[in-house]
Amino acid sequence: MNDGHDTKRGFQQQKDELLSTGSKKSADRYIISRLLSYVKPYKHLLFWAILITFAGSILGPLRPYITKLAIDDYIAKGNINGLALISLVLLGIILLDGFKQYAATYLTQLIGQKAILNLRMDIFRHLQKLSIRFYDRNPAGRLITRATNDVEALNEMLSSGIVTIIGDIMQLLFIVVLMFFIDWELTLIVLSILPLMIYATLTFKSKVRKAFQEVRGHLAKLNSFFQEHISGINIVQLFDRGESEYKKHVAINKEYRDANIRTIFYFSVYFPLIDLLSSIAAGLVIWYSGVRMLKGDITLGVVISFVQYIWLFFRPLQHLSDRFNILQTALASSDRIFRLLDEKDIVEEPENPRMLESFRDEIVFTNVWFAYNNDNWILKNISFRVKRGEKVAIVGSTGSGKTTIINVLSKLYGQRKGSITIDGTELSQIPEQSLRKVVGVVMQDVFLFSGTIKANLSFGKPGVSDEEIRHAAKTVGADRFIEQLPGGYEYHVNENGAGLSAGQKQLIAFVRALLYNPEILVLDEATSSVDTETEQLIEAATANLMKNRTSIIIAHRLSTVQHADRIIVMHKGAIKEIGSHQQLLAEKGLYYKLYLLQHPEKIHLRTG
Ligand SMILES: Nc1ncnc2c1ncn2[C@@H]1O[C@H](COP(=O)(O)OP(=O)(O)O)[C@@H](O)[C@H]1O
Ligand SMILES: [Mg+2]
Repeated sequence: MNDGHDTKRGFQQQKDELLSTGSKKSADRYIISRLLSYVKPYKHLLFWAILITFAGSILGPLRPYITKLAIDDYIAKGNINGLALISLVLLGIILLDGFKQYAATYLTQLIGQKAILNLRMDIFRHLQKLSIRFYDRNPAGRLITRATNDVEALNEMLSSGIVTIIGDIMQLLFIVVLMFFIDWELTLIVLSILPLMIYATLTFKSKVRKAFQEVRGHLAKLNSFFQEHISGINIVQLFDRGESEYKKHVAINKEYRDANIRTIFYFSVYFPLIDLLSSIAAGLVIWYSGVRMLKGDITLGVVISFVQYIWLFFRPLQHLSDRFNILQTALASSDRIFRLLDEKDIVEEPENPRMLESFRDEIVFTNVWFAYNNDNWILKNISFRVKRGEKVAIVGSTGSGKTTIINVLSKLYGQRKGSITIDGTELSQIPEQSLRKVVGVVMQDVFLFSGTIKANLSFGKPGVSDEEIRHAAKTVGADRFIEQLPGGYEYHVNENGAGLSAGQKQLIAFVRALLYNPEILVLDEATSSVDTETEQLIEAATANLMKNRTSIIIAHRLSTVQHADRIIVMHKGAIKEIGSHQQLLAEKGLYYKLYLLQHPEKIHLRTG
């Protein structure tokens, strides 16, 4: 895990330096060093894994050599006792080799799993900190791919990658040394194949790297598509878009398949090629030793051990390229994971934080300008104040910027012009935690997590007692429908509350807010229409929520608006009018028009 800012800042610097040199190798080096930081806490395990792998890498190469000794020095000379002894030695080596494989596999997997756990926690933590703006830009499917597939690719590398690769390389070195020791001429024959093999492997490596990047990219697209179409399945079905969305899916799916086929193509060319080269080496060795055996200057033991060595020598080579594949995938994955972890679009905590103990006086907006993107101003010069205990309603047509005011006030989006103060403290100086304690927001769309009703109700205040939950539900009027659900408060809600009506979800959100009990209530009234009975329930619940509380409400219901102390009328991002219901009606301005639009039956009352 990355502990503290220093490490992170260090990495950033290192990365900037490396990336400014522009080479891919240095970028790889940066990624690997950052990966190592995740392994660092398990240094002691790593030490044993490396020791066992490295020390054990001599065991395999020793086996053909012992075989040679057994044939030439004992069997050929009829030394039966010696043969028994050397057979025992061979058995010992085989047993040790088995133990080495067990210990090395177990230890490297252990390190991998532990490191990956930390990485996943870092990703989740970071995702929680990222601003809503970031989520506007990044589809959920892509982020889920990061946290699952990409992390899995990394896991594979950490658990079977680097240590094993170095072990393989050491084994190759031991083999070469022992081969030279036995017979240098045959060794040169075997090695003459090596340049071809390395050339093939390097070419393969670079092609596969590119191909895998494409595969991952297409996979992320595919996941996003799936995710969206599962979340939005009702829209797809309602608009009868099944067929056309299916066709879109086919196109994305095909791209993914083609990218996969390209990688498979490289693999299917590479492996037979390596096989062919090893067979050629074996053929050459056998032919040449045959010639020398006829002349009597080479023993049978040497030939047999060399045939074994060729097999031992080229197999790790193949493994090595196999592991390159894992390494390449993992590097590409890590690159994306670290980019995500480096994403700076986080909600900045203030430099000179000022805690808000409680709300005493007033909220003041002064000449606030805000844009989601660049200079596309959504809020234009907004100024208003809300005194403690006041109920202020915001009205206006769709898209006029009402929800945006809430987004800005609750610091879901930063960066604006003008000032917003609570009790004289600039909003940007108030730490998020402190702000959330004072300001409670009920969004227009209610999100429910999968879990019990109870857990959803107490989401904002975990650990609250059952009685309090029941009491709050009763106050809001949600108790009736909850008690009718199978299991009552223990009823299991599916993700996003499928199976509950819009009105019921609203009431649940109200209970949530009531339990949270904020001093300032910010409410974005749902526009979804509900039956008259529920409408009355919600009306009463809203009044109950607002009781003895400073409230800013984006209102769609006449009842809410009428009970407000003041009404702010928004039009295209600017405030058009401010006043009470009666004042605004008397002004016969925009509010009057909106009012008549919604309540045409009142025309004769006003005009007649
Ligand atoms: N996350 C966002 N990114 C970019 N533009 C947005 C975003 N949310 C809202 N907008 C734009 O801001 C304007 C005001 O939206 P909003 O405040 O939601 O209106 P209202 O709540 O009054 O219906 C709209 O034109 C909308 O397209
Ligand atoms: Mg809105």
